[in-house]
Amino acid sequence: MDAIECIMTRRSIRKFMDVEIERTKLGIIFEAGAKAPSSGNIQNWKFFYVTQMDLKQKIADACVQQGWIATAPVIIVIASEPDKASQFYGVRGERLYSIQNCAAVAENMLLAAHAQGLSSCWISAFNEESINKTLNMGHRYRPQVVLPLGYPDETVPEPLKLRIENLVIFEDQRAGGNGGGGRIKDLDWAVWHYNVLGRTIDNTQDSAKKLSKAGRRFFDLMRERFNKKKNDEKENQNK
Ligand SMILES: Cc1cc2nc3c(=O)[nH]c(=O)nc-3n(C[C@H](O)[C@H](O)[C@H](O)COP(=O)(O)O)c2cc1C
Repeated sequence: MDAIECIMTRRSIRKFMDVEIERTKLGIIFEAGAKAPSSGNIQNWKFFYVTQMDLKQKIADACVQQGWIATAPVIIVIASEPDKASQFYGVRGERLYSIQNCAAVAENMLLAAHAQGLSSCWISAFNEESINKTLNMGHRYRPQVVLPLGYPDETVPEPLKLRIENLVIFEDQRAGGNGGGGRIKDLDWAVWHYNVLGRTIDNTQDSAKKLSKAGRRFFDLMRERFNKKKNDEKENQNK
């Protein structure tokens, strides 16, 4: 599985098989966490590894009674060291970078788990003090993310995600003021990704069917331009 496929197919899983996780796989997950980017490379984090049932149960309770968490064979708790960040970056380091650094660790771990056939779910709904106490972390550490880990025992449908055409703001839109009146000024230029343009055209063509003849001609013209651009690109690549 390559990186893009891994990102695209990862899902939050909340039901796990009662199967032990191989140590080599765990090692790779910890390594992936350790390779995450961090502000000034300060790596102000620790990974708490939990397998004992009584501790897992306490963690699940601390996660607002999400009992399923205790059924994972392994739980990793990613904790930050905010003081280390504040020494270098003051309040911003303590309050923002510490969280962002651990978030980068969490995503790396989720992807490393998925790439190896394992699954997890990002958990941040928890009572910090209870987790801290359960794992005897001490005041230096703040739990940031809980990751229950195991082989998936459920398949879940792809969750709804916003489409990139509704998320990406292009430079030339901002120039119009008010964050852009029309979302995309020059659709043909702005949305160069085939899937996006393709489905945008399909959607708009559906609407166009309900429009006047002139409207339909406009969308036909757009599709022609898009196909021509794609062919030109192909020819350029073949040169
Ligand atoms: C900051 C954060 C906190 C989350 N907390 C919880 C949680 O407490 N319990 C839970 O079941 N899922 C939690 N999730 C997982 C989200 O529900 C999940 O990522 C979202 O529904 C999208 O599904 P996906 O991960 O399969 O793309 C959390 C995710 C994030 C990023």
